[in-house]
Amino acid sequence: MEQTEVMKPETLDDLIKILHEIFSGNNINIEEVQSIMESYESKPQEWKKYAKFDQFRYTRNLVDEGNGKFNLMILCWGEGHGSSIHDHTDSHCFMKLLQGQLKETLFDWPEKKAHGAMKKKSERVLPENQCAYINDSIGLHRVENVSHTECAVSLHLYSPPFDYCQTFDQRTGHKNPVKMTFWSKFGEKTTNETAVSQENN
Ligand SMILES: [Fe+2]
Repeated sequence: MEQTEVMKPETLDDLIKILHEIFSGNNINIEEVQSIMESYESKPQEWKKYAKFDQFRYTRNLVDEGNGKFNLMILCWGEGHGSSIHDHTDSHCFMKLLQGQLKETLFDWPEKKAHGAMKKKSERVLPENQCAYINDSIGLHRVENVSHTECAVSLHLYSPPFDYCQTFDQRTGHKNPVKMTFWSKFGEKTTNETAVSQENN
């Protein structure tokens, strides 16, 4: 698309500026956002100040609050780290790979009175620079870094922003509300957690 060619972001700051412009309006074109996020070629020196790892689980690191219209964050996945199956609180979710690969497994919403295992719809591996999209009408997903030797870093945009979602037990379909927190905001650690964090150099 010509429009998105013109808006190819050269840097992460450039990408953030373009996203602010797009989200200042009320209508979001999903393909346009996806293609702009995909066209940014990841350069670690531009995002590594946000990329803070934890030894035990993936971290969420806030990069930009999008004028209240969206949250942009960097998630850092150590070897074998993964999310639970979750929904997206009626928001748009864009997920772009900045480094490494992530496996995304899609699930159908469990039926109201279902007790059995949740139905897997599809799975795919997202390579570096690819941008995936999901919302609640598409389904639920689990995201995992299945590599035992490589970490992964991804850039997520959620619009509108939210800090609660629901997680699902794959064996039963039972759900639980979860409050989401940030490991760091704007490059600064947010809590005094004792777990060892490690810079991504
Ligand atoms: Fe997600």
